[in-house]
Amino acid sequence: MQHVLLLGGTTEASALARLLAAHGIVTTFSYAGRTEYPRAQPVPVRVGGFGGVAGLADYLRHHRVTHLVDATHPFAATMSGHAMEAARLAGVPHVALTRRAWQPAAGDRWTRVAGIDGAVAALAGPARRVMLALGRMHVAAFAAQPQHHYLLRFVDAPDQPPGLPHHTLIVDRGPFTAEGDSALMQAHAIDLVVCKNAGGNGADAKLIAARNLGLPVLMIDRPAVPRRTECYRPEDVLVWLDHDAERGV
Ligand SMILES: NC(=O)c1ccc[n+]([C@@H]2O[C@H](COP(=O)([O-])OP(=O)(O)OC[C@H]3O[C@@H](n4cnc5c(N)ncnc54)[C@H](OP(=O)(O)O)[C@@H]3O)[C@@H](O)[C@H]2O)c1
Repeated sequence: MQHVLLLGGTTEASALARLLAAHGIVTTFSYAGRTEYPRAQPVPVRVGGFGGVAGLADYLRHHRVTHLVDATHPFAATMSGHAMEAARLAGVPHVALTRRAWQPAAGDRWTRVAGIDGAVAALAGPARRVMLALGRMHVAAFAAQPQHHYLLRFVDAPDQPPGLPHHTLIVDRGPFTAEGDSALMQAHAIDLVVCKNAGGNGADAKLIAARNLGLPVLMIDRPAVPRRTECYRPEDVLVWLDHDAERGV
């Protein structure tokens, strides 16, 4: 019998969980535990880290996982690296459900930077009104450029106020539209957007809004992950599982 461990935390992971449940495939969904109220899932859920590569390999063996699907965010590179290595150690087939990186379109004014540090360094200079579309994990680093006014949008209200001297905080988990994000940027007189190259359709509203308003974007490039088998649609993971079953895995 197949038992899929699905590493989640993305819209695509939730879509895949629905698909696996609908096909009656035994699945355990794994959250890191970063958000206070994660989306409910139609399959059993576990929460929290595994304790590195060795911990995940033990989990795979102990719970008789037959397939590991890494549907974490393209910036969750540590988890993705661990997943590949643990799957190899435990002899479990592994696939990543991920998104292709965004590419600039006509009218885009992107400056590509490497990592959060690259974005912080690129913000040196006079005060601006910056939309930090990053999630709360990386916001503290921008205290190194305290001259700017930052517009922050978080999924949950933070326990501690963000350590940025000038900021406006909005709590909203989306989905967002280009029209809504244009209105937000205009209401807050934003003159620069900072975001990670997450890819996919779910989070591109801010990019379309920035394009329509002619605003510059600091685009943070993705961290590198080793070569692996990748799917770009949840239904392709089902095909991958089927092929494995045919091969007798
Ligand atoms: N990074 C982003 O920009 C971003 C954006 C949206 C959503 N997310 C989601 O948020 C979660 C954490 O992202 P991150 O960037 O902090 O990850 P990360 O830096 O790659 O991972 C750090 C550690 O968190 C644990 N972890 C991460 N994802 C997990 C999962 N799905 N289930 C169980 N443990 C997990 C693992 O702990 P152990 O080593 O102890 O196993 C991992 O080594 C992921 O599920 C990701 O899909 C991330």
